[in-house]
Amino acid sequence: MKRILVTGAVGQIGSELTLALRGIYGNGNVVAGINRTQPEGALKETGPFETVDCTDIRQVAAVVAKHKVDTIIHLAAILSAVAEAKPNLAWEVNINGLYNVLEVAREHGCAVFTPSSIGAFGPTTPLDDTPQDTIQRPNTMYGVTKVSGELLCDYYHKRFGVDTRGVRYPGIISNVTLPGGGTTDYAVEIFYEAIKHAKYTCYIKAGTFLDMMYMPDAIKAAIDLMEADAGRLKHRNAFNVTAMSFDPEIIAGEIKKRIPRFTWDYQVDPVRQAIAETWPNNMDDSAAREEWGWKPAYRLPEMTKDMIEKLSVKLKK
Ligand code: SER
Repeated sequence: MKRILVTGAVGQIGSELTLALRGIYGNGNVVAGINRTQPEGALKETGPFETVDCTDIRQVAAVVAKHKVDTIIHLAAILSAVAEAKPNLAWEVNINGLYNVLEVAREHGCAVFTPSSIGAFGPTTPLDDTPQDTIQRPNTMYGVTKVSGELLCDYYHKRFGVDTRGVRYPGIISNVTLPGGGTTDYAVEIFYEAIKHAKYTCYIKAGTFLDMMYMPDAIKAAIDLMEADAGRLKHRNAFNVTAMSFDPEIIAGEIKKRIPRFTWDYQVDPVRQAIAETWPNNMDDSAAREEWGWKPAYRLPEMTKDMIEKLSVKLKK
């Protein structure tokens, strides 16, 4: 990776990954690809940004050519809950947008990183220790687009030699930019509400276990996979990666250890609950560990401590 374009650069992952990449590869070498939301603060001030609507192939191609991009980190996507509400938009962005990025990569010789997700699994997938290679029959629009994306990226590698790579991210917990309409968002919201009001009403039922990861590990996963020796990779586009698995009771209890007056209750959202129930309880990420040395740094206690410290400062301002 020398000259990088990040699509979805103002999103939850993009806003932090873009800055991390600028720190490593040089500010001028990492273009923040934005669409409707303008960049602010460090994202705007530290390096170039361009409007890149991934559904417009000419725009993607023009920015890649202008900045001599050799790697596209394609993060622009519609998350699971929004995808259920707007399935045609999800198809347009998650499928046609990815297709455009892959086509531009093929023509311009770029490598591509695209996240897949725990959403690429479905109700007939084994939900405990979910294997790397297993049944994938998702029943959500988000899942349909994610499993198709995995296949499309594999195809572009095999057929055209495009250096495509990706991980199946679990729910990502972070304190800079809020996630935009996913099922796992509760694990971020709970921190904001605990710090602001010492109270949270959770839309996911107690007892629903999901894989999660803290942002520093999500960033490390993307960079380490892109820098990995290609000769070691047997899988390419859909590595299971996880750092922790919990249900709402466990994370709420962990927060309560640090904010003793914190209380919580439940008001279950049937749409997001139904989605969560088809996703793994915990994934087996041994392929990522073996093929490119994946190892998360943050488990639940360290993540909780860091989230509360960082958000307490942020929310006081
Ligand atoms: N965090 C995502 C979502 O909930 C999962 O990939 O949609």
